[in-house]
Amino acid sequence: MAKLLLIYAVLVLQHFCPSIAKPATFLQDFHITWSEGHIKQLQNGTAIQLLLDQSSGKVPYLVGCGFASKSKYMFGRVSMKIKLVPGDSAGTVTAFYMNSDTGNRDELDFEFLGNRTGQPYTVQTNVFARGKGDKEQRVNLWFDPSAQFHTYSILWNRRHIVFYVDDVPIRVYKNNEAKGVAYPNSQPMGIYSTLWEADNWATRGGLEKIDWSKAPFYAYYKDFDIEGCTSGPARCAYSPKNWWDEPLYQQLSTIQARNYRWVRVNHMVYDYCTDKTRHQVPPPECLAGI
Ligand SMILES: *[C@@H]1O[C@H](CO)[C@@H](O)[C@H](O)[C@H]1NC(C)=O
Ligand SMILES: *[C@@H]1O[C@H](CO)[C@@H](O)[C@H](O)[C@H]1NC(C)=O
Repeated sequence: MAKLLLIYAVLVLQHFCPSIAKPATFLQDFHITWSEGHIKQLQNGTAIQLLLDQSSGKVPYLVGCGFASKSKYMFGRVSMKIKLVPGDSAGTVTAFYMNSDTGNRDELDFEFLGNRTGQPYTVQTNVFARGKGDKEQRVNLWFDPSAQFHTYSILWNRRHIVFYVDDVPIRVYKNNEAKGVAYPNSQPMGIYSTLWEADNWATRGGLEKIDWSKAPFYAYYKDFDIEGCTSGPARCAYSPKNWWDEPLYQQLSTIQARNYRWVRVNHMVYDYCTDKTRHQVPPPECLAGI
């Protein structure tokens, strides 16, 4: 009997702790968190438009709008297609990130820093583990991200976190807990996106201001895809059956590694690892190579 109960319990757990895998429509999986009137659903809720102008909501002094997932997820992959603000986007930041929203937060950031017309968009990435961030890297995009939709994804498993632009890895953050470096692996994270005014720091370090005469600024999103553990994250997250724990996702493929090197050599414009003004000695995770 005990054995039967155990089998039953295992079946029930497997049933109730699935890793979900589905294309999401906006309202199924997200809600608006900032400036309701500035977010519009398009194409039957499969795409949305974010709008930034001076009447966007303020929290408490930042001007912008944004949305968040209804659930939090543990490990997996999140991706969406984004078409960024075209033309003179200097001073605007479009962000796509995951955040545990806890005191000692874990956070994985994509921040797209606008620029003057014709100047390259910069993607800043950052990783927070148990409240500690300060791990910024910046890459200038090798295409115009406002001309078409491109896919931006975060793969997160126990081994590493990879930020992708289309199929190209632009950042790999490895689990270096063995070297005493904190790694996000104990808190589920929600998915967030915002379009906001950040002209005090974003473009050329804050020198380039938003030109409000060009407002409203628009960014577009579609093809929301979330795969991760929702309910009972502890059990699901450590199940051996999740696809993102398969060997293929434990390290970059040869082609991905080559693309990653290409990005670092040709398009990286800032790396906290080599910023001598911040670190006399590079932080331990920086010595690991790729
Ligand atoms: C939008 O959704 C409605 C109801 O689900 C459906 O009847 C309609 O065909 C959809 N339109 C498009 C363009 O997908
Ligand atoms: C904006 O363009 C300038 C000039 O090309 C470039 O130096 C900078 O990296 C770009 N991005 C940002 C965020 O300033």
